[in-house]
Amino acid sequence: MEIVIASKNPGKIREIQEILGKGVNLLSLSDLSLDIELAEDGERPRENAGKKALSVSALAKRPALADDSGIEIEALDWTPGVLSARFGGDIDYKKKNQMILELLSGLPVEKRKTRYICVVSLAYPNGRIETAEGMVEGVIAEEPKGKGGFGYDPIFYYPPMDKTFAELSPEEKNRISHRAKALCKIKRFLIRGQESWEKGKGTEAQRHRGTEEDRSQESKDRRQKAK
Ligand code: IMP
Repeated sequence: MEIVIASKNPGKIREIQEILGKGVNLLSLSDLSLDIELAEDGERPRENAGKKALSVSALAKRPALADDSGIEIEALDWTPGVLSARFGGDIDYKKKNQMILELLSGLPVEKRKTRYICVVSLAYPNGRIETAEGMVEGVIAEEPKGKGGFGYDPIFYYPPMDKTFAELSPEEKNRISHRAKALCKIKRFLIRGQESWEKGKGTEAQRHRGTEEDRSQESKDRRQKAK
C-alpha cells in the first residue's frame, strides 16, 4: 500500500513509518519531486491536518496522510499547541526546551502538567477525508533527559514509565504516544479506504481501456466502409 506523507519533519516521518509498519510504503514529497508549501495557518490541528492531506493528495493523485501535532502546557495557558514548531522562533530544540524550563522554573510538579496532541488526516484525490485524534498526558521535567525521539521529548516526562519520552525506546514511545493513538484509529480507514481506492483505480483503467477499444473498432469500421 502506497501513501504520500504530507510532512517535511524527518522525526515525525520516521515515527509514522514505524507505527504503520512494513505493509505501508510511505512516499515523501521529494520521492515524488513535489515542492509544495505545507501551510499550517489554521487555528486548530484538525483544520491544518485536513488541509495538508487534501492538497497533497490532489497534487500527487494518491492517498495522502498528514499529521498536525504539538505540545500543550497548562502553565502557559495550554500553549504553544499548533505553534509548537515555531515556539521561540528560529532556534533549535535544545534552546526551545531550555526556554520552557525557564518559564516554568520553580513551579511544583502539580503545576507542570502537559500533553501532546496529534490529529491525523487521510485524504483521497476524490476529496474523501478521514480524521483521527490522539493525546498523551505528562509533566514538564525539571531538566532535559534522554537522547531518543525528537523535539520536546527530553522535557516530556511520562509518570507511568518514570522516564521522559526521549528516554524511551522507539517501540515504547510508539506504543503510547499521541501519534500512535491517532494512527491506530486511522489504520482501520486505511485498509477500507485502500480497497475502494484500488477498486476505483481499476474502474478508471477499465474505462480507459474501453475507450481505446472503442476507438480501434471505430477506425476498423471506417476502413471497412472505405473499401
Ligand atoms: P507540526 O505538526 O509540523 O506543526 O509540528 C509539530 C511540532 O510539535 C513538532 O515540530 C514538535 O515541536 C512538536 N511535537 C509534536 N509531536 C512531538 C513528539 O512526538 N515529540 C516531540 N515533539 C513533538
